[in-house]
This record gives sequence, C-alpha cells and structure tokens, in this order.
Amino acid sequence: MDHYHRTVLKQEVINLLRPQPGMLYFDGTLGSGGHAQAILNASSPTGRLIGVDWDEEALEIAKSRLKEFGQRVMFVQDNFKNVGRLLKDLAVVSLDGALLDLGVSSEQLEKADRGFSFLSGGKLDMRMDRRRERSAYHLVNELKAPELERILWQYGEEKWARKIVRAIRLRRTRGHPITTTKDLAEIVASAVPRAHHPKRVHPATRCFQALRIAVNDELGNLEAFLQEIVKFLKPGAKIVIISFHSLEDRIVKRSFKSWAGGCKCPPQLPRCICGKKKMLEVLTRSPIIPSPEEIRENLRSRSAKLRAAERCISYIERQK
Ligand SMILES: C[S@@+](CC[C@H](N)C(=O)[O-])C[C@H]1O[C@@H](n2cnc3c(N)ncnc32)[C@H](O)[C@@H]1O
Ligand SMILES: [Zn+2]
Repeated sequence: MDHYHRTVLKQEVINLLRPQPGMLYFDGTLGSGGHAQAILNASSPTGRLIGVDWDEEALEIAKSRLKEFGQRVMFVQDNFKNVGRLLKDLAVVSLDGALLDLGVSSEQLEKADRGFSFLSGGKLDMRMDRRRERSAYHLVNELKAPELERILWQYGEEKWARKIVRAIRLRRTRGHPITTTKDLAEIVASAVPRAHHPKRVHPATRCFQALRIAVNDELGNLEAFLQEIVKFLKPGAKIVIISFHSLEDRIVKRSFKSWAGGCKCPPQLPRCICGKKKMLEVLTRSPIIPSPEEIRENLRSRSAKLRAAERCISYIERQK
C-alpha cells in the first residue's frame, strides 16, 4: 500500500531471519509494520511477533495494518533499549530472531506537527516519543553554545557548527526563540556561506539530523539494546539491524565484533579466567545495502546498511 512508510531491504531481512511457524520474533522499531507484516506472513500460521515502538501514532498505524494477524502480534509502546525489562514483563525468556530498522518513518518525517522537517514547516520538535521532555526546541533555544556545537559537529559532522551556533545565539540574545523548523532552516542556511551550500540537499540537512539524534538519544538507545538483546537470542537465532548513519553502523559493527570475540586468555593458561564466551557469529562481513532498483524506487533507502549476526549454537545460556 502506497501510503505507508516504504519498508527498506524487506526481502533481505526475510532471507536472513527465515521466519518459521511456531517461532517468536522481536521487532523493536515497528513503525508502520512493514517488516512485521512480512515476518508474520512468512511464519504463518503460528509465528508470533512482539512489535515495539515508542511512538503512539506509529503503533496505531501498525495495529490497523496488522489486524489480520490477531493474537499473533503483541504491541508494546516502549523504548527498545528497555528490551530486557519488557521481555521480562511479557514472561519471554528467548527469541528466535530480532530486528531493528532505525531512524524515523516517513509518517513521522512528513507530518508537519512532528517538527522533523524543514520542508513541512511545523513547530520544532523531533521527539519520536512525545512523552520525552526535551524537544529540538529546548536544545536549540536553551542548550549552552559549546554543547550545541558538539551535537552539530559530532552527530551531523557539520563543518559550520560554530558559525551556525553563533547565528542561533545572536537570535537568542534578541529575545526571539526559534520556534519552527523553517525558522531554524533559514538561520542555518544564512550562517553557511552560499558557496558551501551542498548541491543536492538543503544546507540544514546535517544540522537537523544531528538534533534528531540528540533529542532521541538514538546512539545511546542502540548501545543499550545491543548489550541486552543477545542474552535473549536462542542458539541459531538471528539479529538484523538496519542503520542509516555511519555512527549507528559503527556501533553495530563494534558490538557484533565484541560479542563474536571469545575467550581472551593467554593460551598458556590451563583454563579460562576471563569468562568471555563467543556469543555471536557475524553473518555480514561488510554491510548489505539496497539494490540500485530499490534506491531508484525509494530514495530514503540509499543510506541503509544492514548487518546481521547469529547466536552461537555452542554456548547455551539461560536468563536468570
Ligand atoms: C524506519 S521506522 C520503521 C519502519 C518499519 N520497519 C516498517 O517497515 O514499516 C523506525 C521506527 O522506529 C521507531 N523508533 C526509533 N527509535 C526507537 C526506540 N528507541 N524505541 C522504540 N521505537 C523506536 C520510530 O518511532 C519509528 O516508528
Ligand atoms: Zn578466557
């Protein structure tokens, strides 16, 4: 259906997870339910799915789209970083597969009142979970200049961070808060010298991405999730993560690598004292990216990178 967020790398996710009847899957970024629907179809008639999203509106869309699957889907409104607690609440001890498809959905991006986009011109917001306290408005109007500059530089690799923050501060000292996405986009565009405006995208693109990452603590959530989820994967279960930003991809790559490293004790020791067990086998040496056809049909997919790993069979550990 055309009005839903277009699901990225759908077939690749299914090929990796290989959903089966009777199995239980975890989708931590349910969004409009595109991947979830494919997983449920592929695991018919008895595969089940725990669908998590912290955005109430996304959950409503997914609930309506996945209605036909009835009791096979459990919907949870939460941050996926709380996976340990939420699985415990559901009395789930192990999973047959887990998926994250990071970032924002087109529904979030395109709705002006969510305040993500300089194209739709709503109030500056960018919270995926509107129960969170600090929005982009608060960061832009209240953060100390060095912290704001760090965010733009670190999360957006924005070369002009200092000049942009100077322009924001000037506006603040005049006593007019920056309230809309359009307002901020104009300030950014005027702070970046015209000769350095990027050719294909708006000059505020990096800045908006950086603020979004900070507002939602996107990197922190991912790190916390990767620490927790592995303990819940059954031997042979797969974990699949699609990221859209080099910082996210680096976190996934490092975490998989660290879970895939076994005992670090020197070989002359008679037995292991470090206690490190190999938990994951990495399935993607380099990330899987969308085909040129997919990118042509869905431009948003162009920066997608998929990494997958499998829980090792050799070491079976139960949650205490
Ligand atoms: C790219 S969309 C997912 C699209 C979905 N896979 C599909 O095919 O329709 C990402 C979704 O993840 C959600 N999300 C992002 N970070 C989250 C977090 N830390 N916890 C829970 N949901 C999160 C967003 O609210 C958004 O709905
Ligand atoms: Zn050891």
